[in-house]
Amino acid sequence: MRLKSLLIKSNLQNYQANFVDNNSFIYGLKDIPNSIFIVDSKVWEYYKDNLLACIKKDRIIVLSVSEERKTLETVQELYDQIMEYSPRKNLCLIAVGGGILQDIAGFLASTLYRGVSWIFVPTTLVAQADSCIGAKTSLNYKKFKNLIGTFYPPSSIYIYPEFLKTQLKQDFYSGVGEMAKLHLMGGKKDTLNFIEALFGINNLDNKSIIETVQRCLLIKQSYIEEDEFDSGKRNMLNYGHCFGHAIESSTNFEISHGQAVVLGMIAANISAHKRGLLSAENERFLRAKVLIPVFKTNMQNIKLNIEETVAAMAHDKKNTGDGLALVMIDDNYEMIKITDMSKNEASESLKELENFI
Ligand SMILES: NC(=O)c1ccc[n+]([C@@H]2O[C@H](COP(=O)([O-])OP(=O)(O)OC[C@H]3O[C@@H](n4cnc5c(N)ncnc54)[C@H](O)[C@@H]3O)[C@@H](O)[C@H]2O)c1
Repeated sequence: MRLKSLLIKSNLQNYQANFVDNNSFIYGLKDIPNSIFIVDSKVWEYYKDNLLACIKKDRIIVLSVSEERKTLETVQELYDQIMEYSPRKNLCLIAVGGGILQDIAGFLASTLYRGVSWIFVPTTLVAQADSCIGAKTSLNYKKFKNLIGTFYPPSSIYIYPEFLKTQLKQDFYSGVGEMAKLHLMGGKKDTLNFIEALFGINNLDNKSIIETVQRCLLIKQSYIEEDEFDSGKRNMLNYGHCFGHAIESSTNFEISHGQAVVLGMIAANISAHKRGLLSAENERFLRAKVLIPVFKTNMQNIKLNIEETVAAMAHDKKNTGDGLALVMIDDNYEMIKITDMSKNEASESLKELENFI
């Protein structure tokens, strides 16, 4: 069933994700009083002469984004630019871009005048299917990714799938990796539906993408509404990320985040099998039918260094005990978090992972 909108309950303020199928929403946004658009510079280049052409030029800040620019310095640049508009507390920021722009604009909105209203228009698959809900804002600090942040949801979100047509393939498949994760976490039925939708997703079929994006948000909603501030159930969304983050950093970010998460899920499933939580049959099924088909990275020039990956896992901020933290899935598609994985166990799972890529 196709949704028109999804209401997310939050301890901070409830907010609505709206699924839009034509460009009229932008005419509504451009007329919001006291608003300033902050637009990802690549998105601006693609859409300034068509979809975004109606926005008043003196109300737009075009921001070039990258992980290196997801910092306090960039937020300070934005404070300066925004103060030129002599804003009041009733200012509304309208952020148009992917997850990086969301993290910067959300942080900016949460700190300016101790919080001004903001609206988010996600333009990447990662942002539409995952990051747009959950209220997290994050900045990188020195070499620490997402070290600084706040919880501050936008007042509304507009999901317009047409944006995805201009995304680079590697960014698109980063999003597909995150969609695979959420569907596995949804359970067996969602996993089977995802397998069915994959052909359409890979062929950029609008219907398959929209329906899968909506299901992703419904699954994520069930985690964030129960544990918005990430002290329990929401931790499970780190499935694939414990190995994944370490693979990302040990390969010098040559592999996209969502694709590293796919490898992270394969490795986590191998570990789950070794611990007797996931049968050999289910481990093979998830790998062959879901995870390998969404892994679209050419590994020829990317070397997976097991020692460095395990060392990076040891530095994960999610480790709270003596061992390594790992989120796993079991035969009933229940999520389990352990904090006692040994470095040797991690290294054995990574060795097996190498056979599959
Ligand atoms: N706040 C959260 O809950 C949350 C959750 C997941 C990820 N994140 C963050 O999101 C970031 C990753 O987000 P992302 O994958 O969306 O990457 P991104 O924002 O870097 O966008 C990827 C690239 O695509 C460009 N782009 C954006 N929209 C485009 C479009 N429609 N057409 C063409 N190019 C476009 C961007 O300029 C960028 O170069 C990371 O920094 C991650 O930490 C945040």
